[in-house]
Amino acid sequence: MQKFVLISLLAFAGASSAAEDVRILATLPTPAVEVLRDEMRANMLALNEILVLIAEGKVKEAGIKAEQELGVSSMGRHRDKPFDARPGPHMPPEMHALGMEGHKSASEFARIAASGERNKTVDALPGLTSACVSCHAVYRIR
Ligand code: HEC
Repeated sequence: MQKFVLISLLAFAGASSAAEDVRILATLPTPAVEVLRDEMRANMLALNEILVLIAEGKVKEAGIKAEQELGVSSMGRHRDKPFDARPGPHMPPEMHALGMEGHKSASEFARIAASGERNKTVDALPGLTSACVSCHAVYRIR
């Protein structure tokens, strides 16, 4: 089901990218934009660290990193920031929901990685990136 949605989104994005940008513009206050972009670069870094750990056979460590950096444990990080600097509350509800889905599926990945079974963990890897791709295909902030 999740794969089907993703493939549809990719087809949608691919078909239209050359002609015009059809992503939905989410209007966030400037401080929230900066916080979101910082967080995104940290996501990219975390993803790479997780892949490196898996390549090194450190599957359980990859799971711990996924939970800490991308999973449900990483939610609420901006709670103490001024309202204008918190990306979540300024997102359209569907975009926010996609973000929460991403955290949940990263935690699901972390649960699988905690077993230490490399093959199962590798099979679960798309669960780590599907939400990134889905959200990027649909939303922009500038
Ligand atoms: C809920 C939506 C959402 C999710 C989920 C999401 N992103 Fe993003 N990401 C965005 C938006 C919006 C932008 C800014 C696009 C623009 O510039 O208009 C962005 C930008 C980025 C950038 C560019 C940052 C910069 O400095 O401009 C990176 C890198 C990135 N995301 C990585 C990731 C990774 C890796 C994941 C998954 C682990 C992820 N994102 C998940 C919405 C999301």
